[in-house]
Amino acid sequence: MEVIGDPSVLAAVAVLATKGVHMCASESRFRVSSETEFPETAPLRDEVQFLLRFAVLAPSGDNTQPWLFRLTDTGFHLIADRRRVLPVVDPHDRELVISCGAALGTFETAARRFGFDVSVNTFPEGRDSDLLAAIELVSGTTASTVEVALFDAIVDRRTTRTAFAMTPLPDALIKTCRDAAAGFGVTLDVIGEEDCRRDIAELVGEGDRRQFDDPCFRRELALWIRSRRSGSDEGMSGAGFGTPDVLSAVERLVIRTFDMGGGIAAADAKMIFAHPPALGLLSSPGDGPEDWIAAGRALARLLLLLTARGFTASSLNQPIEVAELRSRLRKAVVTAGYPQILLRMGRATAVPEPSERRELETILCDDQGRGEGAHEPLSRVSCRSWRCGDPQPLRVWSRRDGKPRCHPISWGQLQLPSDSVTGIRAVRSFQ
Ligand SMILES: Cc1cc2nc3c(=O)[nH]c(=O)nc-3n(C[C@H](O)[C@H](O)[C@H](O)COP(=O)(O)O)c2cc1C
Repeated sequence: MEVIGDPSVLAAVAVLATKGVHMCASESRFRVSSETEFPETAPLRDEVQFLLRFAVLAPSGDNTQPWLFRLTDTGFHLIADRRRVLPVVDPHDRELVISCGAALGTFETAARRFGFDVSVNTFPEGRDSDLLAAIELVSGTTASTVEVALFDAIVDRRTTRTAFAMTPLPDALIKTCRDAAAGFGVTLDVIGEEDCRRDIAELVGEGDRRQFDDPCFRRELALWIRSRRSGSDEGMSGAGFGTPDVLSAVERLVIRTFDMGGGIAAADAKMIFAHPPALGLLSSPGDGPEDWIAAGRALARLLLLLTARGFTASSLNQPIEVAELRSRLRKAVVTAGYPQILLRMGRATAVPEPSERRELETILCDDQGRGEGAHEPLSRVSCRSWRCGDPQPLRVWSRRDGKPRCHPISWGQLQLPSDSVTGIRAVRSFQ
């Protein structure tokens, strides 16, 4: 179409996207459960399914929703869906596991609302397993008013990428957030000091420039920009960036085609300086899967605490995603731990529409790891992962004999029966 090819129109869309102009967005199609529908007298499995409908409202990188759930007699298993990894931005699955941790943290909040105590056993089959946690529920005490408020915040929470109001975060709220993160062994540094903020703005800008300079990054990001009108139940609509949903396809084309690193870097720096919200950095003592799960649980709790008090947040993770910048960020904030998530926190001036979610039925899998959620047609999986064009080595996950296995293979050597393949992705090198 002529209009889509016009560079001035594309540039205008890019500017709209990066400056976060608020426009009307279409309604989300995802139906959120109501607490009044809680199946109190039903078997535990039904109750867990009800609670999982809230867990899936957790944030995830690019709204990939990289989780699977396997119901058990006493709770459920949280499984990493590595088919949904972002190989360029997240080559070690760090953000994927943090996202799963956020789903777990959101589940815990929902479970407490209905009087359950939750016990979490992380990595019962070892830290390389896709089984991230075994969760058990037992009856506990009635929820406190704070726990009810946090539950109510689950459906109201949004990633807000547009400008924030000047309202500062109350000190008491910052302390509550710090304590909550500490409960998971995670440190929250809240950055108010001007100089350090300048350093962070520079690092975010540098991260934007480096990422957008990489065509693989641009393709990967563009792949997850989806218009709601396309019927997609995953990925990010243009509405999430402050542009109309209907322009998602154009935005996708712009991101894929043009290196907008400079423009986005400037817009991000402006967000940090012109609208002075608080910046928050979540860091963990180590940098392994257990730390990432804990960071995700802490992130979920922090975002719900903010939402319950009328605040919101968005991520600026570029300086964590680019390895070299991560150590500079660590130095700038003077934190002892490993930076996991960098947030802009403040009061929204306009509330974005909720982003889409997959229906729970497509995320549940059975005891053999099979089920609607456990298998996608190989072609769909490979389309997602093989976008970089160059013949990178691949990793393929299969579930032959009911056991998850990882097969490093080279381009052109794919010989597994497709019904046993549960995941596939390009990696830069084998470890
Ligand atoms: C681990 C993780 C990393 C994320 N990184 C970014 C990011 O760098 N930039 C951004 O704008 N949003 C980021 N997000 C937010 C997601 O894009 C967002 O959660 C998702 O699109 C769903 O939207 P919602 O949070 O409004 O439900 C991240 C979320 C998670 C959990």
